[in-house]
Amino acid sequence: MKLVTNSLKILQEEDKENLDVARISEDEKSTASRKLYIESYGCQMNFADSEIVASIMRQNDFATTSKIEEAELILLNTCAIRENAEQKVRHRLQHLIPFKNKRKNVKIGILGCMAERLKTKLLEEEKIVDMVVGPDAYRDLPNLINEVEEGHKAVNVFLSREETYADITPIRLDSNGVTAFISIMRGCDNMCSFCVVPYTRGRERSRDAHSIVKEATDLFNQGYKEVTLLGQNVDSYKWKANEDETSIVTFANLLEMVAQINPDLRVRFSTSHPKDITDEVLYTIKKYDNVCKYIHLPAQSGSSRILELMNRTYDREWYMARIDRIREILGEECGISQDMIAGFCTETEEDHQETLSLLDYVKYDYGYMFAYSERPNTPAAKKLKDDVPNEVKSRRLAEIIARQREHSFERNQLSLGKVHKVLVEGFSKRSENDLSGRNDQNKMVIFPREHFKKGDYVNVLVTDCSSGTLKGHAVIE
Ligand code: SAH
Ligand code: SF4
Ligand code: F3S
Repeated sequence: MKLVTNSLKILQEEDKENLDVARISEDEKSTASRKLYIESYGCQMNFADSEIVASIMRQNDFATTSKIEEAELILLNTCAIRENAEQKVRHRLQHLIPFKNKRKNVKIGILGCMAERLKTKLLEEEKIVDMVVGPDAYRDLPNLINEVEEGHKAVNVFLSREETYADITPIRLDSNGVTAFISIMRGCDNMCSFCVVPYTRGRERSRDAHSIVKEATDLFNQGYKEVTLLGQNVDSYKWKANEDETSIVTFANLLEMVAQINPDLRVRFSTSHPKDITDEVLYTIKKYDNVCKYIHLPAQSGSSRILELMNRTYDREWYMARIDRIREILGEECGISQDMIAGFCTETEEDHQETLSLLDYVKYDYGYMFAYSERPNTPAAKKLKDDVPNEVKSRRLAEIIARQREHSFERNQLSLGKVHKVLVEGFSKRSENDLSGRNDQNKMVIFPREHFKKGDYVNVLVTDCSSGTLKGHAVIE
């Protein structure tokens, strides 16, 4: 069975850059008698979780739909990373009130990180919510739905030390049929002081390596050409088949196992942590042509003083040394992107200048940049003062974004006149005469369609670029 349409619907176009977009479920062809509508917010891991939820629900006679008016169950899979991520969900719930008033039998569930953070408080604050389910409790959904149908409100926010959903085959939602995400671990043990994730996702645990390889192999056999291995800190992936220490699978080992499935299956991964990314991982990336030469390496700040307050456990020099090593082993062309936070507690103008100078040093290909948003109960909220005024945060953020845009353009210009292997993901947004896909370094490339189609690898000579995309035409090599 293949559920493939190209129905990515971005509800909040303006937020595309920071990944806080909502994705909605698509129409599943199934004999299931009941309809479920899921909207997902936040990071790729949340989108991957919605695919697990769809799979669990399928076993319980629910099929997903893209038409909210058809659904008897509406699920919002939520994010809590910044205050505006939660605001978005609250607004969405406001919009759903008249809808639910008209159709009393419709039930609404909140899943994901906001559910975990707010727990029963969500039921008190948002009266239309029937069910609150944390990220480790999705197997319990069928029971919780029964409870709701019996007229009760239902909550399960239990965080597990073991749950990885390893045995559940996700139902691909919003799929282009070419690229797919695979969760390889859950949770995070890092305790960066600004971050809510350790509280919403629980302790770090790695998924059975064989189940990951099997999922990737099945995807390849169904026609997929690229998998992205997902975790909050993929470099600390560690799984043991048994108590024997020689059976340990590290991230470098896992990457190699997935790369060996087939040279035509591209492998990406996200997110790497500067303190944990090892030379062994870098050499594994180098060894396999199908492991993409692209590393997302969040910095968060260029100031060692701020990095320490953030509890990132590396300083500016360590970070720069990791960048040097990446370039030494993988070459100047390896794509590198960042996450950066502007206006963290006590950040001075000098600290901010250090962030800008780190950008100048690295010249990232791409970046995801945010103004600091204090999250209740995090170490920063408890111990530090959120003392940078909003106007200053916004101005610094704008300066970081502008600098990054210059660098993206500069880095993209290095691609001009070169041939790139592009995996076609679909039509370009503007025209069905053009195709779009990504190159090794994760850059979007647009080129005339000719006889090519989705899923093809095409050699494209790049002749033009902006800060966001490369343009060119297919060549025979
Ligand atoms: N595990 C990844 C990041 C996950 S969250 C890592 O360690 O890099 C994604 C990004 O959101 C973070 O990298 C950070 O830049 C941003 N972020 C997290 N908490 C934030 C907060 N309280 N305010 C603003 N941005 C935040
Ligand atoms: Fe949050 Fe830090 Fe974990 Fe990333 S590594 S999820 S920023 S605590
Ligand atoms: Fe958001 Fe949770 Fe992901 S807080 S960024 S959905 S892990």
